[in-house]
Amino acid sequence: MKPPVYVTRRIPQAALEILRRECQVRIWDSDDPVPRATLLEEVAGCEGLFCLLTERVDTELLEHAPRLRVVANMAVGYDNVDVPACTARGVVVTNTPGVLTETTADLAFALILATARRLVEATRFLAAGQWKTWGPMLLTGRDVYGSTLGLVGFGRIGQAVARRARGFDMRILYHDPQRWEDAEKALGAARVALDDLLRQSDVVSIHAPLTPDTHHLIGERELRLMKPTAILVNTARGPLVDEAALYRALREGWIWAAGLDVFEREPIGPDHPLLSLPNVVALPHIASASIATRTRMATLAAENLVAVLRGEVPPTPVNPEVLPGPGHRP
Ligand code: DGY
Repeated sequence: MKPPVYVTRRIPQAALEILRRECQVRIWDSDDPVPRATLLEEVAGCEGLFCLLTERVDTELLEHAPRLRVVANMAVGYDNVDVPACTARGVVVTNTPGVLTETTADLAFALILATARRLVEATRFLAAGQWKTWGPMLLTGRDVYGSTLGLVGFGRIGQAVARRARGFDMRILYHDPQRWEDAEKALGAARVALDDLLRQSDVVSIHAPLTPDTHHLIGERELRLMKPTAILVNTARGPLVDEAALYRALREGWIWAAGLDVFEREPIGPDHPLLSLPNVVALPHIASASIATRTRMATLAAENLVAVLRGEVPPTPVNPEVLPGPGHRP
């Protein structure tokens, strides 16, 4: 009999086909998130869970799913999953690294340009019928070309942003717990302490994972270290930045502007304070949202899930230590 799996959202057909070939699939066939109570009911008999960053996979869920063997998260970030709790129960967790790197870096760069050159503000200005004449200092912004970029996190996505920055002749600084010597050489990047990065950068772009250690990594103290002309871009996770402090920083001119794809509590509504500020470009968590990349993320998550249920090593496990050794058959 095919193993039962639950899919928590409508996903691309290609991924569903991979799952259906080998599994008995139940799906929350909607573009809205599955209600928690439904999720807890549905996982009861499941061996596999295909989920998104909107689902909390915690001890409560694991207790409802005694047969669960794999949690395939359709995201590179997995702060929504209690990995130690899964590991303790022998549940394999997988994510989708690699396939979204370039698409996410494209969007981070788009936010850098949009905030520096005030693109959204300029469009609103036009739409409001305020354009009367060409003006010498009308909607003037900041040059990206030749400025200093500080990357907080220098993994795959941070490095992909650095590659783009080289085309803009930017000086590249990074802060990361790990030293990336080859990438430093290839990209002409320098590893510095976070405070130095914040003091020196014209653009600070965040590409770090959300963990208990990185929660509010950028708070009031850090924002006050930044230049009043600097831009903050966050395409990683909202809680890396203290949003209340960021609001004051933008309002009171401690920094120049922010480009945000992620927020502390998502989704945000139209009354969110940051949306009232002209120097904010805000997006609804779409950094990896190209058709090709979202499809690839979904198929990779499906490949991960079926591999584990077959007793094979999945392409991108998060906790490989729970994988069975050679010779194992499910
Ligand atoms: C991720 O993959 O972690 C993103 O936030 C969604 O692409």
